[in-house]
Amino acid sequence: MGLKGVILAGGLGTRLYPLTKITNKHLLPVFCKPMIYYPIQTLVDAGIKDILIVTGGMHAGEFLRLLGNGKEFGLKHINYTYQEGEGGIADALSLARYFADDDNIVVILGDNIVERSIKRHVDAFRAQGRGARILIKEVPDPERFGVVGFKGKKIVSIEEKPRRPKSKYAVTGIYMYDNKVFDIIKTLKPSGRGELEITDVNNAYLKMGQLEYSVMDGWWTDAGTFESLLRANNLVARKENNPKSKNQSIKTTT
Ligand code: G1P
Repeated sequence: MGLKGVILAGGLGTRLYPLTKITNKHLLPVFCKPMIYYPIQTLVDAGIKDILIVTGGMHAGEFLRLLGNGKEFGLKHINYTYQEGEGGIADALSLARYFADDDNIVVILGDNIVERSIKRHVDAFRAQGRGARILIKEVPDPERFGVVGFKGKKIVSIEEKPRRPKSKYAVTGIYMYDNKVFDIIKTLKPSGRGELEITDVNNAYLKMGQLEYSVMDGWWTDAGTFESLLRANNLVARKENNPKSKNQSIKTTT
């Protein structure tokens, strides 16, 4: 069973308006690189070379101009697909069906940036072989995210942006799924915000008793609001300026 990578980089980025008036959120700068560079590097560092970028909106062509075939990341080819409309994260993921074929997938939201390699979590999923694995992380503001509820060490619930979070553990935007994910998405109904929610996909695996998790080490942030974009810039700047993490940073061709 192979493992492929999917980066979700669509959406209107309305929470960052007017920064996103004339470009896609994932092309905005995070310290010294466009945002999309970070999730690509995260997948490549985890040993995933077969990558699909799902994008949409008015500026989809810019991804090709920026990334080409991924030479900067040591790739020979990048796959692209286009999301019509704004159906949400799970809707964007459904477009990866033909790319995934019979393989399992690692999905990363295009605005999720991590400090350390996720390779050992991806390896845990490879060993797991089927079902799903989510990466979770303790955060001070869980109500901004999907949040897990525990019974002992077992996840028993996941709620999307709950007013009263059941724990401090956010579901990060890094998800690993077997091929059933595409059939699960077909059964979903739009949420209150009119989107097919990735949280509903994770809850479907939970119901089947096939949801595993890993706790992320190192820092993790998204970058979809002014505060989190600033935070992402500061965290990456600190990492880039730390000589110890220099060799992990993305090589530029300049
Ligand atoms: C999305 C997911 C949420 C997850 C978050 C991680 O939220 O719906 O469950 O915790 O990404 O970045 P959104 O950024 O679409 O509000």
